[in-house]
Amino acid sequence: ILSIAVFASGSGSNFEALVNQSRRQHWPEDITLLICDRPESQVLERAKRLGIPSAVFRPSDYGGKEAYEKELLTLLQEGGIQWILLAGYMRIVGSVLLKAYRWRIVNIHPSLLPAFPGKNAVEQALDYGVRWTGVTVHWVDEGIDTGPIIDQKPVLVEPGDTVEQLQKKIQFVEHHLYPAVVRKLLTGKILPPDAEQHGENKMEGLN
Ligand code: GAR
Repeated sequence: ILSIAVFASGSGSNFEALVNQSRRQHWPEDITLLICDRPESQVLERAKRLGIPSAVFRPSDYGGKEAYEKELLTLLQEGGIQWILLAGYMRIVGSVLLKAYRWRIVNIHPSLLPAFPGKNAVEQALDYGVRWTGVTVHWVDEGIDTGPIIDQKPVLVEPGDTVEQLQKKIQFVEHHLYPAVVRKLLTGKILPPDAEQHGENKMEGLN
């Protein structure tokens, strides 16, 4: 069976939204694995409650990123994983996974990229003083939040917003946007960037 793995490091609210929508909407592929790099993460409790098997991988237990990702790759391949969804995974994906899953890894980022890549994007946007920020879903490439953009949604920054308040608004949007985009990927309504070389239009089906 073909399936999906979610990678997460934090609270896991996006993971839970993805799992819930995948079940509600009967996606053609199921989320069958959670990969987490922090044993203390709340996302692990969510996985338990939702009945999704999880694996904790700590890079410090392996001799560097390549060894870590090779172990991870074996597990993913054994599990028939076709897609990797990053959902608050606070690590840069390395060449082992990128090569094996070229244009099969997607990320959600809490800003309108290319503005505010990397960590603390919500704080960065507030500090800068933008009136609008938002959410981006994009393909993962070698860079930090640099891969081709799939979809975006704006979020208004209101006067007096704290990081927590703005983050809450952003996550609300994320929980709708991410599952909607993934569903389109699984049903072929959004195509990988390399499909363009064959004359196909990746923008088709975005609306
Ligand atoms: C999400 O807002 C996600 O966009 C962000 O981390 C949060 C995780 O929340 N990701 C990044 O900042 C990646 N650079 P969650 O654990 O509740 O889904």
